[in-house]
Amino acid sequence: MSQRTLVLLKPDAVRRGLVGEILGRIERKAGWTISALELRTLDRGTLEQHYAEHVGRPFYEPLVEFMASGPSVALVVEGERVIEGVRALAGPTDPIAAGPGSIRGDFGTVTRENLVHASDSEESAEREIKLFFPDRSGS
Ligand code: CMP
Repeated sequence: MSQRTLVLLKPDAVRRGLVGEILGRIERKAGWTISALELRTLDRGTLEQHYAEHVGRPFYEPLVEFMASGPSVALVVEGERVIEGVRALAGPTDPIAAGPGSIRGDFGTVTRENLVHASDSEESAEREIKLFFPDRSGS
């Protein structure tokens, strides 16, 4: 089943020079294609919409501050079971719980600065693609 997903390489990934490493892991998956990509410092308005489901949680404010602290790389990836697939490549939210071989397991230690975001469902993917790449929505 071919799908689309929205992936963010968070500011810690950019600061630490891990963009090439992470993009390489995505690019090497058979049949997956990066169809949009942009380096951008995310503004508060975009982040408030992106993280609307987390408003009120104790980690919300520090999360938005961290996500606005420097450039991120936003990308759309298309291909077979890519929603589940990128989340498997990323590993669990808590990098210490993430196994070796996953992006978070190999490079992360703290839950907030966990290197990557990937849409968690087809509905989230379409909403997030529309938010980050309005000209790509519905295509
Ligand atoms: P992600 O799963 O991409 O989207 C929600 C983000 O909130 C998550 O990555 C982490 O960056 C952050 N997050 C989730 N839970 C916590 C937590 N308990 N403490 C700090 N940050 C968190």
